[in-house]
Amino acid sequence: MNAFEYRNGVLHAEGVSVEDLALRHGTPLYVYSRGHLEAQFRALSGALADVAPQVFFAVKANSSAAVIRVMARLGAGADVVSGGELFRAVRAGIEPGRVVFAGVGKTAAEIDHAIGQGIQYFTVESEPEIERISACAARLGRPGRIALRVNPDVDPKTHKYTSTGKKENKFGVDLERAEKAYDLAASLPGIEIAGLHMHLGSPLADETPYVEALDKVAPLCARLRGRFASFRHLDIGGGYGIPYRPGQKPFDLSAFAAAVVPRLKATGLRVGIEPGRFFTGNAGILVTTVQYVKENPFRKFLIVDAAMNDLIRPPLYQAHHEIVAVRATEGTVFGDVVGPVCESGDFLAQERTLPAVPAGGLLAVLSAGAYGMVMASNYNSRGRAAEVLVDGARSAVVRERETWDDLVRGESIPEWLG
Ligand code: LLP
Repeated sequence: MNAFEYRNGVLHAEGVSVEDLALRHGTPLYVYSRGHLEAQFRALSGALADVAPQVFFAVKANSSAAVIRVMARLGAGADVVSGGELFRAVRAGIEPGRVVFAGVGKTAAEIDHAIGQGIQYFTVESEPEIERISACAARLGRPGRIALRVNPDVDPKTHKYTSTGKKENKFGVDLERAEKAYDLAASLPGIEIAGLHMHLGSPLADETPYVEALDKVAPLCARLRGRFASFRHLDIGGGYGIPYRPGQKPFDLSAFAAAVVPRLKATGLRVGIEPGRFFTGNAGILVTTVQYVKENPFRKFLIVDAAMNDLIRPPLYQAHHEIVAVRATEGTVFGDVVGPVCESGDFLAQERTLPAVPAGGLLAVLSAGAYGMVMASNYNSRGRAAEVLVDGARSAVVRERETWDDLVRGESIPEWLG
């Protein structure tokens, strides 16, 4: 489903005019489609129906309470990477028993809290972390369930900042040492060995890295299943790609399922997946107003009111986001879309054919629903954008725009500064 389409020349989010939303709520504005979230969830779960996977929504992609609630209503659990994300997931309606907790640097306080909440399992990333979880679990007298994150050393062929399953990455334990790490876990009090986890990187274009990694971990899974009665879960992580450019092929779910389902079935394990971007990426747009059209002898700039603090993916990963006019126009200009932040890296698009939208007009940055708002900052003391969720013909502000008072919340000037 394409949630964002033109009706009578105006971009709509499902049944709602994006122009009306911008007029009502101001810009920059994130707009999300519930319908798209649901369609993506159903497509992926449907493709993998033969293994009935547990779906852990990777909250890091979009942690808006309303978005998490949509996923919770579909039956998703959550993949979290901090105490804050666990708090958000539970607050938005995901049962702690359906949460898995990943990340290389969990603190004792986070582990205590997660054990206390009764999460499904921790994805553990190192031997010292297993020891820490054991100490916390033993102290609390509650089980510390773990799935070891293995690093299968597979090249996911994505940006080097978002590759995670190669041997030089900080994530997981390499396959050669993995079984030793399980031995350590088995020897420690409080630990219950729940399964094995991997996450290769993001976004991945097709099934190849998953297949390569599954073939590498299958023998280990078989041995561990034989050794530990509690070893029941195989979590293959997230990373399922989405189209960012017009005409780009979507992630081929049938090819993915055809390749991975038989391999997953053969393990006899309960399958888990952790998609984030696949659900939310194309469920969201960032709407922005052109402030000025500036020209110098070398370049043309559309200066907009959204900036790198709202969406950092273009400068950080050289990521491509399509930019369209909210009110369709035939005219084009060649140039850059830039924000007001004082950095040359503050761009949303560079050297592109763009819709010719004059000052005051609206642009929509597409595919902004994953790793958009969640990576926003207050750089240059810019309040973060508002967020709206659309469902058919209705819409609601699900996060208010930050005010100047929000910017200074928690700050104080010591009296002795005078
Ligand atoms: N599971 C684990 C353990 C992860 O580390 C991640 C993403 C996911 C699942 C979800 O990946 P997804 O299905 O959303 O691709 N900020 C970057 C992406 C960083 C991904 C980090 N980990 C970007 O904007 O592309």
